[in-house]
Amino acid sequence: AFEPRVFSGVQPTGNLHLGNYLGAVSRWVPLQDEMPSIFCVVDLHAITAGFPDPKELSAATREVTAAYIASGIDPAKSIIFNQSQVKEHAELAWIFNCVARMGWLNRMTQFKDKAGKNRENASVGLFAYPNLMAADILAYRATHVPVGDDQKQHLELTRDIAQKFNNDFAERIRELGIGVPNPTPSPELPDELYLPLTEPVIAGPATRVMSLRDGTKKMSKSDPSDLSRINLTDDADAISKKVKKAKTDPEPLPGEMDGLKDRPEADNLVGIYAALAGMAKEAVLAEYGGQPFSVFKPALAEIAVMRLAPIAGEMRRLMADPAEIDRVLKDGAERASAIAQPVLRDMRRIVGF
Ligand code: ADP
Ligand code: NA
Repeated sequence: AFEPRVFSGVQPTGNLHLGNYLGAVSRWVPLQDEMPSIFCVVDLHAITAGFPDPKELSAATREVTAAYIASGIDPAKSIIFNQSQVKEHAELAWIFNCVARMGWLNRMTQFKDKAGKNRENASVGLFAYPNLMAADILAYRATHVPVGDDQKQHLELTRDIAQKFNNDFAERIRELGIGVPNPTPSPELPDELYLPLTEPVIAGPATRVMSLRDGTKKMSKSDPSDLSRINLTDDADAISKKVKKAKTDPEPLPGEMDGLKDRPEADNLVGIYAALAGMAKEAVLAEYGGQPFSVFKPALAEIAVMRLAPIAGEMRRLMADPAEIDRVLKDGAERASAIAQPVLRDMRRIVGF
């Protein structure tokens, strides 16, 4: 069987925010005790929507690294590195550019959102981004990918790529004797696979954190005008102010989940509270049902400060020593390469290079 392995990443494009933390990074921490884990700062992805200032890009890479460590990722146990330092990502992405079909990528909603009306002017990299993401995961033959809800479609594409590659090269994989028995036999797949069909790990009460000023928009790094966004670098005062200013409706909180329907702002704040407190949303409603936001918001602010302010403090401490962060990234890149290189050697043999 495929060895269980976790892979995930965040782009170094500006500040990490509460959505990245609750939807992704905080959920990685317990996983690193369950299976070998690789956490990447995906800087090759950070140039797809336009090249950032080169100095800002390397500073953002260090900041995301600091956020991982401050959130509880242990660099002695898990691998932390940046994507551009392991060449196998780009090499495998090229192979996958020739596996994925134009029609598959044309269906990606994130490209449509990010490219907007002016598709002709989007970079080819932005269009092909999901192939690079598939390469990030499959260069390690990772089996589990913990991400937010917005990445679901890209992970389905990763599985489609793995499935097509396994099928197209089934005979070759058998001939070379490097296949793994298919753990879930099905008529769509050969008996032996080289690439695993990766499982998305999208779970918990905050897989899609919405903006605090508009409950219908995702909290996102890419909207610089959204000052309501809670950043991982915010201090206690800033966190507290942003929670208290969050848009809400005038009704008290409902006692049951049904009562959150058509109340996106209330639903979002309850989900955030639940994730920060390690509770289910039902339990939050059992506690706060019938209470007005004037009671719930201070409680939410308190737990947000309690969970997030220490991370900001630890990030500041880590960022004061950039040489140490660079050392973590270098060590991580060596350990990542040691896994990806033999996979690429096999992939090259399969293809015939
Ligand atoms: P962003 O979408 O903020 O630019 P990335 O694309 O680098 O950030 O995403 C990094 C991780 O954070 C991914 O796993 C993504 O699914 C998750 N994520 C991003 N925004 C949110 C959100 N608002 N709620 C939950 N998870 C999110
Ligand atoms: Na995203």
